[in-house]
Amino acid sequence: MKSSIGVVFSLAISIRAAAIVSFPNPPGYTTRTYNAHAPSSAAKSTDQYSNDALVSLWSRVGPIAPPKNTAVASPTPEPSSLSAFPQPDPAFHPLVASHETGLKDVKLPQNFAWGVASSAYQIEGAAKEDGKGPSIWDMLSHQVPGFVADNSTGDVLAEHYYLFKQDIARLKALGFKAFSPSISWPRIFPFGNGPVNAPGVAHYDAVITALVDVGISPAVTLFHWDTPLALFHEYGGWSNEKIVDDFVHYAKFIITRYDKYVPIWFTINEPQYCNWQYAGYPAEILNPKTGKKGEKGGIKARFACGHYTLLAHARVAKWYHEEFKGQGRITFKNSGNYYEPASTAAADLRSAQRNYDFSIGWFSGPWTDGDYPESLKSTLDDVLPKYTEEEKRIIKGSCDFYAIDAYTSYTAFGSSNDEACMKDPKNGAFPECAGSRQAGNDGFPMGPAGDTGVDWMKTTPGGIRRYLRKLKEMWPSIPDIVVTEFGFAEPFENLMKTKGEILWDLRRADYYQGFLDNILASIHYDKVNVTGAWGWAIFDNFEWNAGLSTRFGLQYVNYTDLTRTPKASMFQFLNWFQ
Ligand code: NOJ
Repeated sequence: MKSSIGVVFSLAISIRAAAIVSFPNPPGYTTRTYNAHAPSSAAKSTDQYSNDALVSLWSRVGPIAPPKNTAVASPTPEPSSLSAFPQPDPAFHPLVASHETGLKDVKLPQNFAWGVASSAYQIEGAAKEDGKGPSIWDMLSHQVPGFVADNSTGDVLAEHYYLFKQDIARLKALGFKAFSPSISWPRIFPFGNGPVNAPGVAHYDAVITALVDVGISPAVTLFHWDTPLALFHEYGGWSNEKIVDDFVHYAKFIITRYDKYVPIWFTINEPQYCNWQYAGYPAEILNPKTGKKGEKGGIKARFACGHYTLLAHARVAKWYHEEFKGQGRITFKNSGNYYEPASTAAADLRSAQRNYDFSIGWFSGPWTDGDYPESLKSTLDDVLPKYTEEEKRIIKGSCDFYAIDAYTSYTAFGSSNDEACMKDPKNGAFPECAGSRQAGNDGFPMGPAGDTGVDWMKTTPGGIRRYLRKLKEMWPSIPDIVVTEFGFAEPFENLMKTKGEILWDLRRADYYQGFLDNILASIHYDKVNVTGAWGWAIFDNFEWNAGLSTRFGLQYVNYTDLTRTPKASMFQFLNWFQ
């Protein structure tokens, strides 16, 4: 009996392995093999997608640091179980105690999806390798002094691009059953549109294969902010409606190829990023043809970006549901925080609502009539592009579940100046015109602060329970909610010199315990249908404007020898699920 189970099992594995190597080649796409290091000596080509065109695109970004190793490393053996990892000894110092003692015997719903998340630009490195095109972040980190606080770049990082097999083996050994990576659009389409880059596709074939081989289920994000630079040069990136077709073209390629192995698709990571990225891009980088040096993208770019992003998502979802008839679930990830009104006074309540409207409400069309909230329309007037009736129809119902990246909480307060502000685009608080702070009414901070690189962050685990209830209250048609990111940047971690100091990240451990306890309380007491939770991040990574010096990892990355070591918070996280 035992041996026949073994036979069936190994047969299943070999059937699975055989199926994996035959990823479908979506029809209608031309493939080339690009190499950004190989300018040709031939006469200048007129082909806008030539290899030389790629070389020239990269020349605008400037020199890129080369990878430390350029071979995909075979994994070395990992311990066979979680208990074999060196980890905190409770005899000397216990992990953090539960925040919700009443829930000791309460179980998570079956099929609760949990794991860790990451994104391509933040962990891969290999910025210019294997035919990848530059993304806007290659450009910003190299050409805009101060855009990244510590002037670090995504050139090398943790080299997940070469070490992914080891990283996946580590996840397996730690007991993870799911992982949420993103795919780099400019690795697949170096110009954003045009030919597919064969080595880029081969890379993600290998990643998906490695995940499926060890039984780790991928939840894949198609776009996590690394817009192909070429699309800025062509038309200004997400501030132009042309991007919708290009994104749909890219998305169809990836989904057609990998849907069989990917049960969860996130089209877009946090469209709210348009706020602080598109508004802040130097105008000449946002749109080299029209942008004036010294200006910034500003409010127009910000709301155009949001507009075309939601439309692009909706077009992909419509195709996925109706034409392609995908096997999984599709949505996009929102970025939003909880706002507790400072009081029941009308001005405070309105402020809380406006804080929601301008963060998550902006993208709530899938759960309403497909349009923007009234407050955005009346405040922004012509700055806010308009959806046609047909577009609204596509947006409505385009999400299979609600995904929220919810890190922290605020108190919202109104003021007598708010109404004047709403009519005054020159007011510094326009268009939100809604106050918020991370302190209670007596001024005491709402929770312990994160690292100095993340001044927006206090650990406020109780907020997630209130937030989940509020989401369901605002949009009752949401069937279920997944907390697609939560995580914490331990204060001063980057200043610590030894692993002995770094690995005991108690504030992060407390954050995870408190958050997870409150998610469970939300399910159990408030009956909110929460179906998943993803910790950010698999390991330390490039934290956008804060660069490498702010660390969010559940594993410590030594950027010299590239080793990864689980921190105490990783055991807190895993123990909770055990
Ligand atoms: C949300 C973003 O998706 C991710 O890229 C970022 O690193 C984390 N928040 C932490 O700020």
